Amino acid sequence: MKRLAILGSTGSIGRSALAVVDAHPTRLAVVALAAGDNDALLASQVQRYRPAVVAMATDEGIDRLRPSCGDVRPLMASGADGLIAVATHPSVDIVICASAGTAGLEAVLAAIDAGKTIALANKEVLVMAGALVTERARQRSVSILPVDSEHNAVHQCLHGRERGEVRRLILTASGGPFREWSAAALERVGPDEALRHPTWQMGRKITIDSATLMNKGLEVIEAHWLFGVDADQIDVVIHPQSIVHSLVELTDGSVLAQLGVTDMRLPIQYACSYPDRWDGALPSLDLTRAGRLEFLEPDHDRFPCLGLAYRALRAGGTLPVVLNAANEVAVDAFLDGKLGFTSIPRVIERTMNAHSVEDVTTIDVVRRVDAWGRNKARAMAAELELTV
Ligand SMILES: NC(=O)c1ccc[n+]([C@@H]2O[C@H](COP(=O)([O-])OP(=O)(O)OC[C@H]3O[C@@H](n4cnc5c(N)ncnc54)[C@H](OP(=O)(O)O)[C@@H]3O)[C@@H](O)[C@H]2O)c1
Repeated sequence: MKRLAILGSTGSIGRSALAVVDAHPTRLAVVALAAGDNDALLASQVQRYRPAVVAMATDEGIDRLRPSCGDVRPLMASGADGLIAVATHPSVDIVICASAGTAGLEAVLAAIDAGKTIALANKEVLVMAGALVTERARQRSVSILPVDSEHNAVHQCLHGRERGEVRRLILTASGGPFREWSAAALERVGPDEALRHPTWQMGRKITIDSATLMNKGLEVIEAHWLFGVDADQIDVVIHPQSIVHSLVELTDGSVLAQLGVTDMRLPIQYACSYPDRWDGALPSLDLTRAGRLEFLEPDHDRFPCLGLAYRALRAGGTLPVVLNAANEVAVDAFLDGKLGFTSIPRVIERTMNAHSVEDVTTIDVVRRVDAWGRNKARAMAAELELTV
């Protein structure tokens, strides 16, 4: 039996993780759950899975949650300490990190210190603090298993291979809903259109990131930290069908790919079962029904976010922190109807241009630069658009 903590249990990945638990009740148990604000859903999860500890983002959330848990009486905590309590509970074996944004960073580090296996969906953690997180995991001999479908695919393709056998990684991207839109049409995109992803059902922030291709940019940085490869060894191809989840080219030119249905339960289950494989609850991939598989070059002119992420990775240090912070501010402003779709990369680029890169030596540096990046991005957004 593997015992799980789930950070972000009320979100898209968190709910899929609980569906994996439901499919494997003799192999997986829930020990600890953390959510942001959705006390109603968390209360129903508490009654169903009876965790030992739960956390919410705020004390107010806990006050709403407490009377709704029926006869279940878990320990309850809030804020950063609550996330850490969930991630480090002594009974937990695997921490599924699926909280949105940057809130989970300290909890991931605490979980590593406590020797927990990390199943990581929350790519922002590695974008902000990849050097600190991976070094800490190396020191403690802790595994970081990727849940992101592309990195999970690479992880599967690399299984049993030597680092020296790898020439490059090829991450696939659906291209999002605006893959074929002209630059002029992109100027008029609104939040509702951007939230309609063609192949994946995901949380709001990552859905917008997919539409701008920033999601793929963040994944390039994530791949660098997870697999120890340079920016020049990570390519991106647009694959609108989202069936090939990613590929690895070996030094002799062989290319390995992982294919599967577009359902996050598959990579989540593999992260939980690793190094074993369990029978899946999902349908088999039917390639004859999938039809044509296409692979196209990304258009950096219409989707500049991908290039900005490569720039941040190549510069290193604190520039990825600024990229991530500015992106979160710009995406929030876009979702609030205050910033145009094509102004998202403009805000990010201007914020990056204003930053003097320093080394990421401590979490305090990360948090300080993150706060700076958010403030600067807000100012850039206010200059660029409407009423931010
Ligand atoms: N969805 C996907 O298919 C997918 C694929 C690959 C990677 N990812 C990554 O996985 C992460 C989650 O994505 P998602 O799509 O599942 O997002 P989501 O649906 O927006 O869910 C986010 C989760 O984080 C929780 N949360 C937010 N702030 C929190 C805080 N301060 N403390 C504790 N929990 C907090 C939310 O709680 P409330 O809802 O209760 O507020 C929710 O449970 C992201 O980093 C994303 O990039 C997602």
